Amino acid sequence: MTDASPADRPTTTCRACGRTVVGFLDLGRQPLSDHFLTGAETAGEYFFHLSVGACQGCTMVQLMAEVPRERMFREDYPYYSSGSSVMQKHFTDTARELLDGEATGPDPFVVEIGCNDGVLLRTVHEAGVRHLGFEPSGKVADVARSKGLRVRGDFFEEGTAREIRASDGPADVIFAANTICHIPYLDSIFGGVDALLGEDGVFVFEDPYLGDILAKTSFDQIYDEHFFLFSARAVQTLAARFGFELVDVRRLPVHGGEVRYTIARAGRRAPSSRVAELIAEEEVTGVATMARLERFAADVRAVREDLVALLTRLKADGKRVVGYGATAKSATVTNFCGIGPELVSWVTDTTPAKQGRLTPGTHIPVRPAGELTADYALLFAWNHADEIMAKEQAFRRAGGKWILYVPRVHVRD
Ligand code: SAH
Ligand code: TYD
Repeated sequence: MTDASPADRPTTTCRACGRTVVGFLDLGRQPLSDHFLTGAETAGEYFFHLSVGACQGCTMVQLMAEVPRERMFREDYPYYSSGSSVMQKHFTDTARELLDGEATGPDPFVVEIGCNDGVLLRTVHEAGVRHLGFEPSGKVADVARSKGLRVRGDFFEEGTAREIRASDGPADVIFAANTICHIPYLDSIFGGVDALLGEDGVFVFEDPYLGDILAKTSFDQIYDEHFFLFSARAVQTLAARFGFELVDVRRLPVHGGEVRYTIARAGRRAPSSRVAELIAEEEVTGVATMARLERFAADVRAVREDLVALLTRLKADGKRVVGYGATAKSATVTNFCGIGPELVSWVTDTTPAKQGRLTPGTHIPVRPAGELTADYALLFAWNHADEIMAKEQAFRRAGGKWILYVPRVHVRD
């Protein structure tokens, strides 16, 4: 095990407002969730301590240790956004909405933070609209470039944003999906948005929603990359701190439940009624109150007990269980529950960069998705359940059963 560097030592200082964070769930020693290893790499594997807390000032839920960004987002980062056809459609539709609703001036400019393989910007490019993606992870950025997209291979932050403002002028839209929640250095992000966004532009981002995570006990949304678990209230407070305003929220069904936040410069747009409605709902359900978060932590421990008991019983009965989807999320589940190859024989995944390697921390082999030959498949990619079950009907017909652990441990046959 590599010792945590000073940057990954636990802290109780809120990364959104500087006040005090109090922990409510300790998920223990965890690896880099997207670092699939060769056999030779297992000896020097990097681990850090994953615990999550809530700020007693601004309510922001966040990790209590930060993994240095270069360890996570590197040349061979293996997450390819276009791996799900449902997500491809989601981002095509999102791009069209942004083009129709926001990028309407004579020469609009759309910037994406974390454009990955170009799943969203592709539609912007095809519409002939000026664009730029920021994407520090080398290989996924190259895939986006191969689609003809303009990609800057850097982290978005205040300095890089200022350079683009100087060379390209103001942006009408700055968009990010499943990326802002990855970024602890929010001062630099908002400084960059302030520098780059036009006076009437919008900063739109979508990320897993704390309300859904609590309701579904989807604790696997907590891992190194997911530094923040946003709520509407915490995002509203955050935006105001930097002279911006939360003007719209939209709940999205993707990735187990997300919210899309639209942020404008303060006073430039009237907030929609949806903002006040979602914040009122959060008050009722007590999202980000310590009592609710501690109840969630108890639910998480119950899921661990039930899942380990089920897998242990199936093993004793001589059943073969395999995993489906070598997700980043599954690193949290397998490492927190202590699930290794003795309980789950292998994990299938369609991503070539993950195949032939071992899962982080627990070292379960990852195999290409082919014929699913097992008694049970543990669905780690539960957020893509409809898409996956539709294409794996032969598995079910042959008597295979699905194991799900969201919102509770259950078998679907
Ligand atoms: N938007 C895609 C990808 C999400 S994965 C989707 O929703 O599927 C997060 C991506 O953000 C990774 O590709 C990572 O390399 C990138 N990233 C992380 N920090 C970033 C930063 N500061 N600026 C730009 N991209 C960043
Ligand atoms: P995803 O749940 O989108 O995200 P994360 O890794 O952040 O938790 O990851 C889905 C994984 O599942 C990805 O490695 C691709 C794989 N996958 C399949 O193997 N088959 C499929 O049909 C789909 C949709 C995904």
